[in-house]
Amino acid sequence: MRLQGKNAVVTGAASGIGKAAAIRMAEEGASVLLCDKNVIEGEGAAKRIQADGGTALFIETDVTDEDSVRQSLQYAFKQWGAIDILFNNAGVSGKEKKLHEISAEEWDQVINTNLKGVFLGIKSVVPFMLDQGKGTIINTSSVLGFKGKKRTGPYNAAKGGLVTLTKNAALEYGRYGIRVNAIGPGVIDTPIIDAWRKDEKKWQIISSANALGRIGKPEEVAEAVLFLACDEASFITGETLMVDGGGLTF
Ligand SMILES: NC(=O)c1ccc[n+]([C@@H]2O[C@H](COP(=O)([O-])OP(=O)(O)OC[C@H]3O[C@@H](n4cnc5c(N)ncnc54)[C@H](O)[C@@H]3O)[C@@H](O)[C@H]2O)c1
Repeated sequence: MRLQGKNAVVTGAASGIGKAAAIRMAEEGASVLLCDKNVIEGEGAAKRIQADGGTALFIETDVTDEDSVRQSLQYAFKQWGAIDILFNNAGVSGKEKKLHEISAEEWDQVINTNLKGVFLGIKSVVPFMLDQGKGTIINTSSVLGFKGKKRTGPYNAAKGGLVTLTKNAALEYGRYGIRVNAIGPGVIDTPIIDAWRKDEKKWQIISSANALGRIGKPEEVAEAVLFLACDEASFITGETLMVDGGGLTF
């Protein structure tokens, strides 16, 4: 088992990519704390891992709230005495609008969840990892962090920001044994893209706009998260690993 004896905290773990990553890390022996604001789905995901013989706990967490994030990481440390892995993954898409139509509140909601939420995760976990002299952090960016798209301004700005924030964190903490990387998913089959499915014509284009001509599964993204979390990735930091079926080739 690749993560035997390791402890992992996963945000946005009630659904989609976070849930798949939590399940995959638990399969490899990690004890996993699932964090999400969706209590029912989050508790359900933790119970599923437990039923499969894994070690998992759930704690209600709002990644936009500094106290909530800090308390969740303190809870993980109290349970296990160490935090080896933090997967900063919670995210929202926001409503599709042109920039001049977006209210300041709508902008804040997307930026606060997708960008500030990751900053708060890093800020809260780093003191534990500095004390331990080791740890690894993985942030969920997106193919949309690398290119423009109409009507997704704050989302792209947040995901693009994560690419450089990941490099900053890698640089600031690399000498202390902490690796920080990101993943860049393309279109992945999770509830976050439900709005896109409704427009059949648009969906046909979106769902095949990559080299492989299909959308990805959350389990395929989970494999990349697992790799970055493992010692096999010991010389990789500051990187964003695309998991996009070649979406950036388009
Ligand atoms: N699915 C895709 O096509 C795709 C592509 C690129 C990047 N992503 C990114 O992947 C990440 C996971 O998304 P997903 O596709 O699994 O979608 P999802 O909607 O299935 O999961 C997102 C999870 O984040 C949680 N969440 C939202 N706001 C939160 C908050 N403030 N605090 C705590 N939890 C919160 C939700 O409750 C949900 O469980 C997101 O960051 C998303 O932007 C997804």
